Amino acid sequence: MTEDLPSRNVDRQMRLFARACELIPGGTQLISRRPSQFAAGISPVYAASARGARFIDIDGHEYIDWVSGIGAIILGYADPVVDEAVKEQISGGTIYSISHELEVELAEELVATIPCAEMVRYAKGGGDACAVAVRIARGTTGRDKILFSGYHGWHDWYIAANLTSGALDSHLLPNIDPTGVPKCLEGTAIPFPYGDAAALGELLNQHRGEIAAIMMEPLRSDMPPEGYLAEVRKLADEHNVILIFDEVSTGFRMSPGGVQPVLGVEPDMAVFAKSISNGYAMGAVVGHRDVMEPAARMFVSSTYWSDMIGLRAALTNLSEIRRRDVPSYLTQLGQTIKTRLNAVAGESGCPVLATGIDVHPRLEFDVDDSIKNKVGTLYTQEMAKRGCHGYTSFYLNAAQGEAEIEQTVDAARATFTFIKDALDANAVDEKLECPPRGDAFRRLVR
Ligand SMILES: Cc1ncc(COP(=O)(O)O)c(C=O)c1O
Repeated sequence: MTEDLPSRNVDRQMRLFARACELIPGGTQLISRRPSQFAAGISPVYAASARGARFIDIDGHEYIDWVSGIGAIILGYADPVVDEAVKEQISGGTIYSISHELEVELAEELVATIPCAEMVRYAKGGGDACAVAVRIARGTTGRDKILFSGYHGWHDWYIAANLTSGALDSHLLPNIDPTGVPKCLEGTAIPFPYGDAAALGELLNQHRGEIAAIMMEPLRSDMPPEGYLAEVRKLADEHNVILIFDEVSTGFRMSPGGVQPVLGVEPDMAVFAKSISNGYAMGAVVGHRDVMEPAARMFVSSTYWSDMIGLRAALTNLSEIRRRDVPSYLTQLGQTIKTRLNAVAGESGCPVLATGIDVHPRLEFDVDDSIKNKVGTLYTQEMAKRGCHGYTSFYLNAAQGEAEIEQTVDAARATFTFIKDALDANAVDEKLECPPRGDAFRRLVR
C-alpha cells in the first residue's frame, strides 16, 4: 500500500481563480488552463515564472511542466538564444508604420523547409491562422462549406459546426454551446471522422461542388492509418477541394519542416502556431502559390500580424530547432519516457500503457470507460503532489532531460501503485481529492 501524500497547498491560487471568475468570464483565456482541466484544488493554477523544463507557481512550488505551455514551448521556457534575439529586437522597436525585411526572411525560411509552402501569410495564434486559411480557401474556390476533422480554434467558421447539435462532441468538448455564432452559418462547417476515407468521400459526394476545403489535423498522438492521408489527398484532388493540414499541435516536433516530410503527403495549405515561436505570439499560413496568391485580393489584414517579436522569435526558434536537431532529441526523449513508464507500470501492476508517437506520448489506463476520466484525474492529482504538472499525455520540449525523467519516473512509480491500490480496493472515488477533470479536449484525432 502507498501512503496518501499531502498535496501542496494551492488554496490561495484557488481563491485567486475565484476572484478571476468575478472579473473575467470563464476565469481564464484558454479553456485548457481552467483548474477544472487538471486536479482542481491540487494542481497549480497560477505560475510565477518558468525556465527550462519547469515552472514555479505563485506559492513557490516548483513543477516539471509536461504540458509545455499547452504545446507552445518546444526548446524550453526562457530559451536563452530565442530570448536574447527577442530582447535585441525590442531595443530596435517591435512594430513600425512600414514593413520590415524579417517578414520576407521568415517567409523564405518557411518556404525552404515546409513541402507545401510556396507563399506565406502570418497570424498571431492557431485559431487566428486557421481562420485566415479558411478565408483564403473560401475566397480562392468561391465555395462556402468546410469539411473538418479535429480542433481548429474558437472562430465562427468552426464553432458554427455545433449549430447542428453535437457535431463537435467528438472533435472538441461535448456540449459546446454555439451561442453568439450567427445561425445563418448552420451547415457551413461539417465534421468528418478521422481515419475513415469512405466517410469523407460520401460527404464530398453529398456536397459536390460546395466544399471549399478539407481542414484537418493530419495526426496528433498516433500515426495516421496506413494510406489514409494519401486517400484524403486523392479525394481532395478528385473534388477539386483545397486540402489544409492544421499543424498547430504537432508543430515542428517531428521534423524542422513539420509533419509533411515525415508523412510524405503534401496538402495545399498548412497552418502553424504555438511551437513556431517558442512561447511568443505567432502563427503562419503557408500553401501552394495558386491557392495562396488570390489572397492578395481578399481582405485579410491585421496590425499585429507583422509584429517584430513574433517574427524574430519564429525565425530564431526555427533555426535553433534545426541547429540543435530538436526532432531527433524529442524522439529519443519520448522513447525513453515510454520505456521507463511502461517499466514502472509493470512493476506496480497498474493497468496502464505508455503509448503514442515518440514526440507526443500518452498514457492509456485499461479500465472501464465509466471510470477512465476519474483514473486520469487521480494520475494528475498524485503527480501534482510530486511536482509533475500534466495530463495523461506529454507535450515534449528540448529542455526536458534526465533529471525530469528520473523525477517523473519516481513520481509515476508511486502514482501507479496508488492507482492500482485504489482500483483493487474499488476506491477510486474515495481517493479522488478533487472533482473529476472536466472533459479534456476530446478529438477524433487523438
Ligand atoms: C490543432 C489545433 N488547431 C488550432 C488550435 C488553436 O490555437 P490557439 O489556441 O493558438 O488559437 C489548437 C490549439 O490547441 C490546436 O491544437
